[in-house]
Amino acid sequence: MLQHIELRCQHPGEINLVQLTDTHIAADPGELLGGVNTTGTLLDVINAVNRHGNLDLALLTGDLASDPSVEVYEKLAGILRRIELPVYCLAGNHDDPALMERLLNSGNVSTANFLTSGVWSIILLNTHKPGTDGGCLSTTELSRLDTALERSRGRHVLVCLHHHPVSIRSPWMDSMALENGEALFRALDRYDNVRGVIWGHIHQEFSVTRNGVMLLGSPSTCVQFLPRAERAGIDDRPAGYRTLTLAADGVIRTRVHWV
Ligand SMILES: [Fe+2]
Repeated sequence: MLQHIELRCQHPGEINLVQLTDTHIAADPGELLGGVNTTGTLLDVINAVNRHGNLDLALLTGDLASDPSVEVYEKLAGILRRIELPVYCLAGNHDDPALMERLLNSGNVSTANFLTSGVWSIILLNTHKPGTDGGCLSTTELSRLDTALERSRGRHVLVCLHHHPVSIRSPWMDSMALENGEALFRALDRYDNVRGVIWGHIHQEFSVTRNGVMLLGSPSTCVQFLPRAERAGIDDRPAGYRTLTLAADGVIRTRVHWV
């Protein structure tokens, strides 16, 4: 089912948003991922985001928890309240979508999955597949995507998900990509108003264009992975996030920021 929110944006016709991804929050405040304290780096990123001033919303594109539990999501909800923006969350392989829906729907935080403002629609997809690090769009999710695309006729569309739908030329990461990326693109190719697809999961910056649609992967708010690596490897880049301006003419302007 679509949970629709009509956004309130500062500039008519345009949406300015920030993508935060792969926060990997743990219950233990001292827990490290790849040598990085994930709570500490998320707080640093939130401080940087709050200084931007011209943003309308934040999107969290999955792996919010390292190991999902009530305790972790309650802790995360407390942290996300510090973001001075509405926050919309979707699930990654490390998450529990049902727990997220229960615990990440209060105050400024929401798991709504269809956002509209002016000439833009933002569609948030769930690619969580229980028991695996890879992702999949279920039949239900694909039909929800199609409903959202139908309701977005006459608008520009940004699609958001956790898993990468195309190869990033990193064999170990590609072994846990979206397993039915072709089904996603079959759905998107039926429409001529899709402008961008953004994801998390890969802990690195990535950008290609397919049929005029921008495909963008983004760095994590904690540890980064080495691009084009055969096997798992940690990059020494710091925490990062991406800002996007969805302009009135359908153009997406975007930039990655390192903290
Ligand atoms: Fe992931």
